[in-house]
Amino acid sequence: MGRGTGFGKIILYGEHFVVYGMPALAAGIASKTEAFVSRSKQLGWTLDDRRPEVFGYKKKKKDEHTASIELVLESAGIDLSEMGIHIELEGDLVCASGFGASAASCVSLARALNDEFNLGFDDEEINEIGYEGEKGSHGTPSGIDNTASTYGGLVWYVRDLGGGPPTFEKLKLKDSGFLTIAATGITASTTKVVSDVRAKKDENPEWFDSIADEYKKLVQDARTALLQFDMKRAGELMNRNHELLQNLTVSCKELDELVEIARSEGALGSKVTGTGRGGNMIALAPDKETQNRIAHALEKGGSPFVYKTTFGL
Ligand code: MEV
Repeated sequence: MGRGTGFGKIILYGEHFVVYGMPALAAGIASKTEAFVSRSKQLGWTLDDRRPEVFGYKKKKKDEHTASIELVLESAGIDLSEMGIHIELEGDLVCASGFGASAASCVSLARALNDEFNLGFDDEEINEIGYEGEKGSHGTPSGIDNTASTYGGLVWYVRDLGGGPPTFEKLKLKDSGFLTIAATGITASTTKVVSDVRAKKDENPEWFDSIADEYKKLVQDARTALLQFDMKRAGELMNRNHELLQNLTVSCKELDELVEIARSEGALGSKVTGTGRGGNMIALAPDKETQNRIAHALEKGGSPFVYKTTFGL
């Protein structure tokens, strides 16, 4: 039996902007999806998906997930016309929009196929296969989710709009940053939200450019703040990034409420993470105690799933 893993991720700064070639910062989280691949007598592939989820996620994403698996198989060069495989997915990564669950599924499957069929892929190739798989989830992935899922850690990522390889850099901070992540429980369609933003951008390029110009400066400042471990500044920039995402129309009432709860409990900053219009938000805490307090308040405030993690080391 072949096995492989893929990290979950959160985006600290830059969801949506990253699609248009602007830099973004993402962090792998400790929770992972694990994939197992075994050979079976039945031609084609079968799936036993035991990943934990927020209510309804897997049902809503079924077609996209099927397309992703097909794309991973194809780009890994697995021909199932004369053989069969059984895929099992499990692990402690909860499937919820914003956690990179689809990327973690693609990356873990690519690794499990690599293991079972001795394909000899290195991480770069696994990441490329993960990227192809992500196209099943939405047509124009920036590649940030599969990159964070493959490598973990804190990643500075810039997509090459010409179709060439992305630029990415792993960053290490002086210490760990504390994050609380909370789900709204609403499963968002990345395809729909990304294409809505694109349509708005095409309709009104000046509007988009003015937001994007501010974001480009913001992300450079965020990088500097994180590298200097100036978490107060990093938090302020998260708050501003949230406002820019509100302007892009990718936040929603449920996210804004959770963002406000986190701030009132002492978060240095809080924002949408990932696709938006549902999914997850993140809050940066100055210490473990505040992180716990924020988590408790978010649970009380109605989030069906709250998660604590650290990033940066
Ligand atoms: C989704 O996790 C992040 C988006 O920026 C889409 C992408 O980067 O492909 C919304």
